[in-house]
Amino acid sequence: MAQKEDIVFPKGFLWGTATAAHQIEGGTTNNNWWLFEKEGTIKNNDSALVACDHWNRFKQDFDLLKKLNCNAYRMSIEWSRVFPQPGTLDKKALDHYVTMINELLKRKITPFVTLFHFTLPIWWCNEGGLLNRDKKHLEHFKQFCDVVAKTLKGKVKFYNTINEPSIVMLGYITGTSAPGQKNMLKAIKALGTTMLMHAIAYHSIKSVDPDAKVGIVHNVQITKPYNPDSIMDKLFTAFADYCFNGAIIRSLKKGKLPLQIFSSHRELINTNDFIGVNFYNFIRLSLRLKDLAVPATDNPICGKKGLCVSLGWEPYPEGFYLAIKRMHNAFPHIPMYITENGIGTNDDSWRQRVLIDHLKMLHKAITEGVDIRGYFYWSLIDNFEWEHGYEPRFGLVHVDFKTQKRTIKPSGMVYAHIAKSNALPAAILKKFPEEIYKPQF
Ligand code: NOJ
Repeated sequence: MAQKEDIVFPKGFLWGTATAAHQIEGGTTNNNWWLFEKEGTIKNNDSALVACDHWNRFKQDFDLLKKLNCNAYRMSIEWSRVFPQPGTLDKKALDHYVTMINELLKRKITPFVTLFHFTLPIWWCNEGGLLNRDKKHLEHFKQFCDVVAKTLKGKVKFYNTINEPSIVMLGYITGTSAPGQKNMLKAIKALGTTMLMHAIAYHSIKSVDPDAKVGIVHNVQITKPYNPDSIMDKLFTAFADYCFNGAIIRSLKKGKLPLQIFSSHRELINTNDFIGVNFYNFIRLSLRLKDLAVPATDNPICGKKGLCVSLGWEPYPEGFYLAIKRMHNAFPHIPMYITENGIGTNDDSWRQRVLIDHLKMLHKAITEGVDIRGYFYWSLIDNFEWEHGYEPRFGLVHVDFKTQKRTIKPSGMVYAHIAKSNALPAAILKKFPEEIYKPQF
């Protein structure tokens, strides 16, 4: 029975979790990340060779989704599996994905399918990857999108084209993610190509399946000046904000490639039936090299000495609200799904608190009129966190990577309760009476 104090979400709201193929499946050795991993670039020399062995254990994992009372699930389809060579379709791999989708539908779970989640086939990278904009080269991606949309028509209604274009760009700036380069001009080119691939995916899916709902996933990155009194830090922060957020929003609205003055790509305009928003943290930026990107504040609860900072990412629930509002203001008439939000931590009680704080902020945005239709927690299970390997644990379900045993964490039980009630139930709110967590800038 609903209680007066419950914070109730709109009817039909989707409660899901999100994953990506390379991070959980295992055996995705035909893509650029695998090449990058083999260079010993990953923390503790980890690799995604086995990951969560989800390719073989997906039924068990979908049963877990059911136990978490989820009615939606975001997953990605690995292009390099479906097309291991240019123009050569691996029917068996495609069928495997169809089986996965069928298993989700059997459990009454609505699938959201991502087409490009950070990994690209090696053969496509050998042809120049994101730095090659030849029509023929990009046609390969279109072929992949066409095949997926044709195959899944009638089964999958929601597609995410590209996951986090601005993070794809980082692979050409920091050198710490695939393809491990440090070249600003290449970064701008790669980002532009990624946006073009979004348009290609959108038009391809819509021409095959006009009823499908298609949208990009943008990671709203909040930036703060390290020293709020420094004009240089403030300018740098504003510039970084433009690169991470403004340029991508502008690209989708005006058909201009990000950070490229002379470009006109009208095919980019009106290419979102919904907006996917990922939100995790803020970064503090400074022009002083040693403080270039300073993760956490000195907040005593979650500061430098605190337990709860993972990856140096400090939660910023109010930032989540600001991120939602910003995307809503940019696209006021387009529905929104929170396609990712979560925290990598071993402190599961902290995960619960952070989850609840974020959901309160999400609810606030809904009550103010933002049309948010679903929330996907990142992630269902602990998984391969890219260059950080297996150390950061984002899952609602613990994975023992030696035995592949899955165990639902207390946060998973809390999420299950929330999803089942379609509310933040009073009983849960009472357990976490603290004020919304606020970093001290
Ligand atoms: C966003 C990315 O889409 C996902 O792949 C990653 O694991 C999470 N952030 C956590 O960093």
